[in-house]
Amino acid sequence: MQSLHFSFKTHNTELRIRSLGLALVLLISLASPTSSCTEQEKTSFLRFLAGLSWDGGLAASWRNNTDCCKWEGITCRQDSMVTKVMVASRGLEGHISESLGNLTGLQYLNLSHNSLSGGLPLELVSSNSITVLDVSFNQLNGTLHELPSSTPAWPLQVLNISSNLFAGQFPSTTWKAMENLIALNASNNSFTGQIPTHFCSSSPSLAVLDLRLNKFSGNIPKELGDCSKLRELRAGYNNISGQVPDELFNATSLECLSFPNNDLNGLIDGAHITNLRNLVTLDLGGNNFSGKIPDSIGQLKKLEEFHLDNNNLSGELPSALSNCTNLAVLVLSSNKFSGQLTKVNFSNLPNLRTLDVYYNNFTGTVPESIYSCSNLTALRVSTNKLDGQLSPRISDLKSLTFLSLSTNRFRNITNALQILKSCRNLTTLLIGDNFKQEFMTEDDRIDGFEKLQVLDIEDCQLSGKIPLWISRLTNLEMLLLNRNRLTGPIPGWINSLSHLFYMDVSNNSLTGQIPLTLTEMPMLKSTYSTTHWNPSVFELTVNSGLSLQYRTITSFPSVLNLSNNNLAGVIPPQIGQLKMLGALDFSFNKLSGQIPQAICNLTNLQVLDLSNNNLTGDIPAALNSLHFLSAFSISNNDLQGPIPSGGQFNTFQNSSFDGNPKLCGSVLTQKCNSAEEHHILSAKQTDYKVAFVVAFSAFFGVGVLYDQLVLSRYFVKS
Ligand SMILES: *[C@@H]1O[C@H](CO)[C@@H](O)[C@H](O)[C@H]1NC(C)=O
Ligand SMILES: *[C@@H]1O[C@H](CO)[C@@H](O)[C@H](O)[C@H]1NC(C)=O
Ligand SMILES: *[C@@H]1O[C@H](CO)[C@@H](O)[C@H](O)[C@H]1NC(C)=O
Ligand SMILES: *[C@@H]1O[C@H](CO)[C@@H](O)[C@H](O)[C@H]1NC(C)=O
Ligand SMILES: *[C@@H]1O[C@H](CO)[C@@H](O)[C@H](O)[C@H]1NC(C)=O
Ligand SMILES: *[C@@H]1O[C@H](CO)[C@@H](O)[C@H](O)[C@H]1NC(C)=O
Ligand SMILES: *[C@@H]1O[C@H](CO)[C@@H](O)[C@H](O)[C@H]1NC(C)=O
Ligand SMILES: *[C@@H]1O[C@H](CO)[C@@H](O)[C@H](O)[C@H]1NC(C)=O
Ligand SMILES: *[C@@H]1O[C@H](CO)[C@@H](O)[C@H](O)[C@H]1NC(C)=O
Ligand SMILES: *[C@@H]1O[C@H](CO)[C@@H](O)[C@H](O)[C@H]1NC(C)=O
Ligand SMILES: *[C@@H]1O[C@H](CO)[C@@H](O)[C@H](O)[C@H]1NC(C)=O
Ligand SMILES: *[C@@H]1O[C@H](CO)[C@@H](O)[C@H](O)[C@H]1NC(C)=O
Repeated sequence: MQSLHFSFKTHNTELRIRSLGLALVLLISLASPTSSCTEQEKTSFLRFLAGLSWDGGLAASWRNNTDCCKWEGITCRQDSMVTKVMVASRGLEGHISESLGNLTGLQYLNLSHNSLSGGLPLELVSSNSITVLDVSFNQLNGTLHELPSSTPAWPLQVLNISSNLFAGQFPSTTWKAMENLIALNASNNSFTGQIPTHFCSSSPSLAVLDLRLNKFSGNIPKELGDCSKLRELRAGYNNISGQVPDELFNATSLECLSFPNNDLNGLIDGAHITNLRNLVTLDLGGNNFSGKIPDSIGQLKKLEEFHLDNNNLSGELPSALSNCTNLAVLVLSSNKFSGQLTKVNFSNLPNLRTLDVYYNNFTGTVPESIYSCSNLTALRVSTNKLDGQLSPRISDLKSLTFLSLSTNRFRNITNALQILKSCRNLTTLLIGDNFKQEFMTEDDRIDGFEKLQVLDIEDCQLSGKIPLWISRLTNLEMLLLNRNRLTGPIPGWINSLSHLFYMDVSNNSLTGQIPLTLTEMPMLKSTYSTTHWNPSVFELTVNSGLSLQYRTITSFPSVLNLSNNNLAGVIPPQIGQLKMLGALDFSFNKLSGQIPQAICNLTNLQVLDLSNNNLTGDIPAALNSLHFLSAFSISNNDLQGPIPSGGQFNTFQNSSFDGNPKLCGSVLTQKCNSAEEHHILSAKQTDYKVAFVVAFSAFFGVGVLYDQLVLSRYFVKS
């Protein structure tokens, strides 16, 4: 009664109604016994419901004998006209009925984040009332139709059809009817064709245009320069080519200009770019831009995110970059920049969080001014020609979690580790391919590194032993010490690293036996492992932002790589405990004895390489039950008897077995029933190695770290 009284009171005071919250209006309409939604509205909803194959529980509320203004997800005006339908994230399946287009007062329709399929009814887009239509994150398909350009204007202001399965030629005339359009998001579909030219002549209010992740081609239309209200223009991950037209720089309201991963070329137009003084985000990464960064960039005072990675840019960095004092993210990786980083005064950039200059031609030292960027969380200078010793001031970077110095000419690893240990928030430290021919720091006083999860000191030709201080890195998940000259045994404490699941000590001169504690590594043993530790996210990821889901350490496979050492003795049968292992590589050692039967228990193995040892006896037949095995070699041992058949074994080539004269079996020319004849098999070593590397890299290709930092060494450098 209270609300009824209220509704009565407000009846005559329209002004006050407007100032009342929507919730109150809803309350009023709920309480109003005198009016309810029309029979036609109800019919429209029930038709929509009938079109669903899964209604996510809506039917319980959407009952024919009740007022549809009271139904879940539906909002009515005071006069009981349906104005708003909000049924997002309800798991709806089935198709969208065009009947919703019959709701004459509907202004807001949100069906996003469901599993709706089929087409998008034109009745909704061309409705005479809908101003906001969001059908994003569904499985809608089909094309958007061209309409005659004489179509009368629609009230639609916001259209979000992103993340669906729409395909086909993007319409060009249809937009002419959208005079009121303010925001269009068509990203993450498969639209083809060109970006329409007349967006802003027909929709002068257009402020947001998002066409990312489609198959658009052709040039950036110069007419987009007429979009005086346009604030956000995103068209990354398409096939757009040509130069950025001068006219685009007339769109002076632009705050975000983002065209990563297209085929754009030409120079970065220093004369015109200064028109875009409102730019906050400029992303031209993954194109073919050449030339220098213009000095005038310093006039973009509002710039916070600047991405130019993966282009053909060259020259020195303009010191004017120091004038972009709001910069938080600066990504210049994979270009041909040269000169000194000290050209930029980083102490003018106090908000800098990410600096990535990976894979350029920078020389000199890491500028001291960087160490005053106290908010810096990710610093990657890898694959340049930087030299010198690390400055003690790097420990001023208290927020630093990701540091990559790999593949430069830094010296004095002892100094580096002594300093870095006090970067207490560091989780990822990649310093490999530096410090050539120095000694591995065995200094027992190295502690700290409390949060370190990834340590990569590969390819430094370091001598010495695997040092004891590593045993104190209690959070370590990945350890890469490969390609050094380390001697001595694999330390017995290895299983005390209770989070370690990735260990590569290959290409060293390690001796002794495989310690039993190695078969006790908790992360490789446990099947419940992933639940009890936080999947951490790398601060920096591949330049292809598509791979966002691979930003976590957990996306790496479990690896034990001891290959190319001088390990002797037998493979302990307890190896069968490491059930989580995805890749096991013991190749090129001096291991003897039999292949333990227990290896057949490693059912997650995708890569198994025991080649080039001195193994004897039979191949365990049950290896054919390793269903994920895609790369396998036991070549160059002294194995005998039949090669297992069936399962993955039918896919391996001769080269997997070469160099074991006593083996026989189906893939070999030597059949088991003619064991007398010892054919000398033609060794196809190279075929095998190629296959193995491909399998390995396909395997690791999913990993960000490998993509950027390790594979680059195989595919970029060599
Ligand atoms: C809803 O009820 C009306 C009459 O009360 C009836 O005519 C109509 O068929 C019903 N609709 C559905 C879908 O049951
Ligand atoms: C829309 O309403 C008209 C008139 O009430 C009706 O004839 C038509 O069937 C309705 N369309 C849908 C799809 O419900
Ligand atoms: C639609 O609903 C989703 C989920 O609640 C929300 O994230 C989105 O912003 C809504 N869309 C609009 C245009 O309001
Ligand atoms: C849309 O998807 C459905 C299956 O969900 C399929 O039957 C139909 O052919 C598709 N339509 C188009 C135009 O691709
Ligand atoms: C748009 O840009 C072009 C080329 O930069 C220029 O000639 C033209 O005068 C500009 N038009 C407007 C309206 O500013
Ligand atoms: C930075 O801007 C100031 C004025 O805002 C200007 O005097 C100076 O030359 C600029 N510095 C560079 C390197 O462009
Ligand atoms: C790097 O710089 C050197 C000279 O300093 C030059 O010879 C070389 O071609 C440059 N490399 C790249 C990739 O630009
Ligand atoms: C660092 O970041 C914090 C929180 O994001 C912010 O409050 C602070 O102002 C930043 N410091 C500087 C020097 O920009
Ligand atoms: C370091 O990490 C801790 C915990 O994650 C956090 O509370 C702290 O603010 C970080 N320090 C800095 C300087 O970011
Ligand atoms: C390397 O660093 C250590 C520790 O900072 C220092 O004592 C030593 O002198 C440095 N060595 C060289 C060759 O600079
Ligand atoms: C393989 O695992 C099973 C149980 O998971 C166990 O019973 C068996 O002993 C193991 N085999 C070897 C050879 O370790
Ligand atoms: C392999 O083992 C045999 C005896 O088991 C031994 O004679 C031979 O020297 C070993 N070969 C190598 C390369 O270690």
